[in-house]
Amino acid sequence: MFTSTVGAPISARTPDQGAHAYSSIVVTPASPHIGAEVTGIDLTRELSPQQVAEVKDAFVRHQVLFFREQRISFEDHIRFASLFGTLGRHVGAQTISKPTDHPLVRRFHYDETSQRISGESWHSDQSCAPVPPLGSMLYNHIVPPDGGGDTMFASTYAAYDALSERMKAFLSGLTATHDGARVFGPGTPKASHPVIVHHPESGRRGIFVNADFTSHINELPRKEGDAVLDFLYRHIGRDEWSCRFRWRAHSIAFWDNRCAQHKALWDYWPNVRSGYRVQIEGTAPPLAG
Ligand code: SIN
Repeated sequence: MFTSTVGAPISARTPDQGAHAYSSIVVTPASPHIGAEVTGIDLTRELSPQQVAEVKDAFVRHQVLFFREQRISFEDHIRFASLFGTLGRHVGAQTISKPTDHPLVRRFHYDETSQRISGESWHSDQSCAPVPPLGSMLYNHIVPPDGGGDTMFASTYAAYDALSERMKAFLSGLTATHDGARVFGPGTPKASHPVIVHHPESGRRGIFVNADFTSHINELPRKEGDAVLDFLYRHIGRDEWSCRFRWRAHSIAFWDNRCAQHKALWDYWPNVRSGYRVQIEGTAPPLAG
């Protein structure tokens, strides 16, 4: 008899994020495992020390934060993102997103002339860098009028937690090569990172491979490594530990590349989706889990 594993109980079905009370902002979880919307905050103004502390806490707790109704300028964008670290520049040689006249802000604009969009498969940003960006903050001021253009986010913590103890032990200690040339062409960095990483602030373990940048597992023969990677990509991309952000004009998504993956849905051509993104530099290479 065929036994389906669909719907089988998995450990990650235990919710690992819930509402947490803050005094200066309101944070509403977007799913049981990842994502939260932050309200009661105006990002066109300087934040109070209490708001800064609470947004930082929420970022570590929820992995990706969403903000709405924020008509921010480049200066506002940079001021807010700089609270989380030094802002950095994209490592890509040939990129779909384009520089603006501000060296720290890139334009993510798609319309009827677009051949591709950035980030259509699950990934964390620029994992090919020796020290990948800690986070990315995308502001969209134009969204498709007929809907679409959502961004999906996946918790690599919850995906890790759902693995069997045997699989966790097998993956522990392995490293993988992340090759920027796969996405951005020649002249972009290549780096090796642990397959299982340890988040420096939350202390939680997550899976750190993605189909965009990861070329192979260093310690395994190619065929074996490819099979393991294929399993991990499908596992990370499962619905159970994802959330979906439906953009509205003047929304912001701010994600932690150390523990979340994302993918952009291109279901709105020929309509326009347009915004700006800054990235926050990482401070150290990913830590082995
Ligand atoms: C990206 O991953 O490069 C962009 C994500 C998005 O546009 O939603």
